[in-house]
Amino acid sequence: MRATHGIFAALSASFSLSSAAACSKQALLLVSSYPFGATPEDTIPGGVTTLKLGNKGLEQVGDISSICGTHPSWQTLVGTDQYYCINENWDTGNGTFTSAKVNTDGTLAFMGNSSTPGGPVHIALFGEGKRAITSNFATSSLDVFDIENPAQLQSLDNKAFRPRADNQTIKSRPHQAVVDPTGGFVVVPDLSVDVLHIFSIDQTSLSLTESPAYSFENGTGPRHAAFLKSGDKTFLYVIAEKKNSILGFDVSYGTNSLTLSEKFNIRTDGSDDAPREGSSGAEITISPDNKFLTVSTRNETVLSYAPVGGGAKIPSDALHTFSIDAATGELTHVQAAPAGGSLPRHFSFSKDGSLVAVACGGENRVNVFQRDVATGMIGKAVGETVLTTQVNHVIFKE
Ligand SMILES: *[C@@H]1O[C@H](CO)[C@@H](O)[C@H](O)[C@H]1NC(C)=O
Ligand SMILES: *[C@@H]1O[C@H](CO)[C@@H](O)[C@H](O)[C@H]1NC(C)=O
Ligand SMILES: *[C@@H]1O[C@H](CO)[C@@H](O)[C@H](O)[C@H]1NC(C)=O
Ligand SMILES: *[C@@H]1O[C@H](CO)[C@@H](O)[C@H](O)[C@H]1NC(C)=O
Ligand SMILES: *[C@@H]1O[C@H](CO)[C@@H](O)[C@H](O)[C@H]1NC(C)=O
Repeated sequence: MRATHGIFAALSASFSLSSAAACSKQALLLVSSYPFGATPEDTIPGGVTTLKLGNKGLEQVGDISSICGTHPSWQTLVGTDQYYCINENWDTGNGTFTSAKVNTDGTLAFMGNSSTPGGPVHIALFGEGKRAITSNFATSSLDVFDIENPAQLQSLDNKAFRPRADNQTIKSRPHQAVVDPTGGFVVVPDLSVDVLHIFSIDQTSLSLTESPAYSFENGTGPRHAAFLKSGDKTFLYVIAEKKNSILGFDVSYGTNSLTLSEKFNIRTDGSDDAPREGSSGAEITISPDNKFLTVSTRNETVLSYAPVGGGAKIPSDALHTFSIDAATGELTHVQAAPAGGSLPRHFSFSKDGSLVAVACGGENRVNVFQRDVATGMIGKAVGETVLTTQVNHVIFKE
């Protein structure tokens, strides 16, 4: 009797806890933005905005931070509070790489910065967090930084990329650097030269050595990529901005070499339909449990979205989710969910995968949706807000 009663009490306690948790998910978000305004006079500079998700949805914490400059476009959080951002600065001169501490309320405290070549759009870390790579889109190169002391970021190396061999007027546009699961290689999708640049990482000196690149069909536009280690296999998924496709690869390794063999090339929406004129693939992310892959496509506004705050439905781009076959790496389309607005350049999952935050640049909207971890389905919005700046990137601070 006592034992039964004890179990019942424990069960009802956990039921009330979980239902309370479901309607009051707490989280902090960091959102980077470009400037926004119709004319130069009324343009609001970009920056980093902290948002708090609570009972009342999303609320801004403090002012827009300017420590990453006025055109921040990528953020990386290490652990709970070591933060890095880059100022893309578009093509108007050098960029900046900045490090900061995230305070417990989500606001940022400047630690250090360094100049980068123009137009950085991504930060990758390697060497157990001792090094960072900025992908300098506007100036066709990578920079490697020593970040062992985050207050003193030091540029160590620059790797420049050549224009297209078949048309020298088309410059290289490195969009991201992605470190493989062994930590021994980095691949760099080049949007306009249509290659993946491949480097090996010397584990002692942490220096990069370039290997022959992997070439895509002309006009593919590889933008971002994600590796997946599954058992003894490794897969790579690349999203193509121009062709609106997802390319899947088997990854194999030799001594100081990484080899890719293409397995499939599918549309970002999983269909056989031609992509909409003017649409472009954006972000590709594997869920924290490695079971699902989600992509965002910009300007393929096939869905609509009813804001939770009320008002008319708005046109929405889609987040497409695929389940991943752990043995083969094959993808099966499972859901087209509204991104909650247009131009979802970036989105991210919370650590446990139960929330998805989306930055919709078309309306300056940030949306947070619930996500069913078991099915991979993105559900209803638990927070939404419209900022005064053009949002481009959003991460959770947990
Ligand atoms: C680095 O930060 C300092 C202090 O906030 C700022 O004055 C300087 O302009 C920044 N450097 C660059 C290259 O943006
Ligand atoms: C811009 O970056 C380049 C390459 O890192 C560097 O040589 C140059 O000094 C920088 N210019 C400024 C004004 O910081
Ligand atoms: C090279 O690219 C430029 C810019 O896209 C284009 O205007 C030009 O026609 C191209 N030249 C050739 C020979 O394809
Ligand atoms: C590849 O596309 C570019 C334009 O993006 C063009 O200039 C070039 O001629 C094409 N090359 C081939 C081999 O089709
Ligand atoms: C979206 O696509 C349309 C063509 O369908 C194009 O006119 C428009 O410029 C595109 N918008 C953006 C932001 O890319």
